[in-house]
Amino acid sequence: MADTPTVRWGIVTTGLISSWFVEDLALPRGDAKAKHVIQCIGSSSVEKGQAFVKEHIASLSPTLYGTYDEVYADPNVDVVYIGTPHAFHKKNCLDAINAGKHVLCEKAFTITAKEAREVFAAAKAKGVFVMEAMWTRFFPLMRTLQKLIHEDKVIGDVSRMFCDFGQAKELASLGPDSRFKSLALGAGTLLDVGIYSLTFGLVTLDPGVGESAEMPKIAAQQTLSDGVDIATTAVLLYKSGRQGIVTSSALFKTPDVFCRIEGSKGYITVEGDAVSRPEYFIVHPTVPESKGGAPSKRYDFENPKRGFYWEADAVALDVAAVKKESSIMPWAETIRVMEIMDEIRRQGGAKYPQDDE
Ligand SMILES: NC(=O)c1ccc[n+]([C@@H]2O[C@H](COP(=O)([O-])OP(=O)(O)OC[C@H]3O[C@@H](n4cnc5c(N)ncnc54)[C@H](OP(=O)(O)O)[C@@H]3O)[C@@H](O)[C@H]2O)c1
Repeated sequence: MADTPTVRWGIVTTGLISSWFVEDLALPRGDAKAKHVIQCIGSSSVEKGQAFVKEHIASLSPTLYGTYDEVYADPNVDVVYIGTPHAFHKKNCLDAINAGKHVLCEKAFTITAKEAREVFAAAKAKGVFVMEAMWTRFFPLMRTLQKLIHEDKVIGDVSRMFCDFGQAKELASLGPDSRFKSLALGAGTLLDVGIYSLTFGLVTLDPGVGESAEMPKIAAQQTLSDGVDIATTAVLLYKSGRQGIVTSSALFKTPDVFCRIEGSKGYITVEGDAVSRPEYFIVHPTVPESKGGAPSKRYDFENPKRGFYWEADAVALDVAAVKKESSIMPWAETIRVMEIMDEIRRQGGAKYPQDDE
């Protein structure tokens, strides 16, 4: 294991997603491809940092800072992990990049494609690694699903897919400063959870990623409440005629069978409690076993906690290899996702202050 890379992480924020990320990094794993050190935590207050460590990583003693800038300036930090609401991602990324740090930034990477381009231009100029933390793409389940569909063609020619990520949010009980209600913080189901439904569409309808992927045509509708999209439906149409229907909602929790991919020889259902964290999938032949067809086959995958360690391992390996971007979530793919979401919002009506900048 002499060449197992070590990454010293600077964690920006003590929010929910940061807690999930550090808990996963701290998990002992026999198959870890990298060693992860939680070097420091930056928060709006040191007290929040203390409470965060006590609750989530009590056996560790990271340095605690009361500002994010101290994380960027810490010479012992290799990669900054950004877990602020999406409206701050551009500034946080630029600040970290300008300090010469590599960056893993939560999804949605920014509010608009224009903002994402600015961040990647800065990363290119500074020569640092930057990646959107679209963790689901790094799941062994996702890699296997893509191989079975595009290389092994287990369901023949794919014609259509559906994916829905709905959560019952009880928005009425949330204050105006909630990131689920404030447009200034990037509120809306598309950027929050629809991005996962879109991700399933992009990876199952096309084997390409980033520059090698086709840009589908988009038709979209959104339901707005005080300007915030509480339901989004988008159709992706490819030149081949393939269609994807990708949806999100803040009103209804999607049942466990959240995705279906249809092909000429059968279909696949992808299942689990959340689209972001798929648990298993089932390949169903067109002719069911009861009518003489082959049996359905279920693919299960081990995931000892939540599954953030796979993206973290990938970042560590890429940084050790002196890469500037990931081959699984390259810059062009983040920009493509942001451009599609810009277009969905242009048609659907959800608008953010950043659209006018
Ligand atoms: N990958 C996933 O599955 C997943 C899941 C949930 C969220 N996310 C993404 O992660 C990001 C954060 O989501 P979250 O659910 O972790 O949010 P959260 O629990 O509200 O935490 C956000 C943190 O950002 C900091 N912050 C700075 N300015 C803020 C402001 N004006 N309002 C609120 N917080 C502010 C705060 O940390 P300090 O006080 O410590 O500075 C806060 O705790 C979002 O972009 C979201 O899309 C990803």
